[in-house]
Amino acid sequence: MLIDSYNRVVDYLRISVTERCNFRCQYCMPEKPFSWVPKENLLTFEELFLFVKVAIDEGIKKIRITGGEPLLREDLDKFIKMIFDYAPDIDLAMTTNAYLLKSTAQKLKDAGLKRLNVSIDTLKPEVAQKIAQKDVLANVLEGVEEARAVGLKVKVNMVPMKNMNADEIVDVLEYCKERGMSIRFIEYMENQFASKEISGLKSNELLAILREHYEFIDEGFDGSSPSHYYRMKDGYKFGIIEPYEDDFCKQCNRIRLTAEGQLIPCLYFDEALSIGKAIKEGNIEAAAEVLREVVRNKPEKNRWGGEEGEVSTRAFYETGG
Ligand code: 5AD
Ligand code: SF4
Repeated sequence: MLIDSYNRVVDYLRISVTERCNFRCQYCMPEKPFSWVPKENLLTFEELFLFVKVAIDEGIKKIRITGGEPLLREDLDKFIKMIFDYAPDIDLAMTTNAYLLKSTAQKLKDAGLKRLNVSIDTLKPEVAQKIAQKDVLANVLEGVEEARAVGLKVKVNMVPMKNMNADEIVDVLEYCKERGMSIRFIEYMENQFASKEISGLKSNELLAILREHYEFIDEGFDGSSPSHYYRMKDGYKFGIIEPYEDDFCKQCNRIRLTAEGQLIPCLYFDEALSIGKAIKEGNIEAAAEVLREVVRNKPEKNRWGGEEGEVSTRAFYETGG
């Protein structure tokens, strides 16, 4: 088992298979980065899989594939199948913007993927165009329908922003509720890559809007996700991710791997260690040692909302959020 120095069990690995993306979301990657990681620096799926085996053997029970946009990487279903064949009981999920999902959902499901998280920030094509800087909505919604049709469980993320999609909070929630998909509202996290005009809604503002339409009770955390859950009268649950709250990090069970092999203990901090050398040499024990060290060095909490003006310097498209 992997246990950090604050007694948190780390059993969740997020793997960003590429930092590239076909969207330019205002809160994430409004401009094309000055340079992408050169393709030759990416770990191959075979190399990533070597590390995945180490991680599973050390105690990882849940793996999420992220990006950038993971579906931009060719043969992703083959990578998923490798993981599934090695450990069929692993909770295997992916986060995607859903743009390419219509043509890939079946393959992913067949490979062993169980669950998907997708972003639906709006149901208006022109607002989607404004957020992602591309006309994306039709593909996204078709992708989501296809994923559900092939039997993938879909969770929705929405980042509520003032003067952008705040007036659609209830509409997006209803869209999810009608389809039996759960929704999590993610408080906008400041980062130096995001567009400066963005102003996110805080959870109290969001809750005030929802209270005008619904009655619900506070269910707190479920111990396995960073969401703060609320339950409506009819039983439907929604979540809010509040990284600025003090107790947010108490639940943290995760570490992140970038496509280049950087193993990151906390989304907020720049500290990371590379597994690249160990993996390229096929040195399983060295890779396991890097993993244990990263877990040992996991910081107690992030610093969002900490010292004034402090924002993360790490791009979400590199770490998969
Ligand atoms: N703040 C909050 N959420 C973000 N995401 C990306 N960037 C940010 C940010 N700055 C979300 C996306 C996606 C998930 C992977 O991360 O909406 O749903
Ligand atoms: Fe948008 Fe996700 Fe792409 Fe970032 S990685 S630009 S949030 S779709």
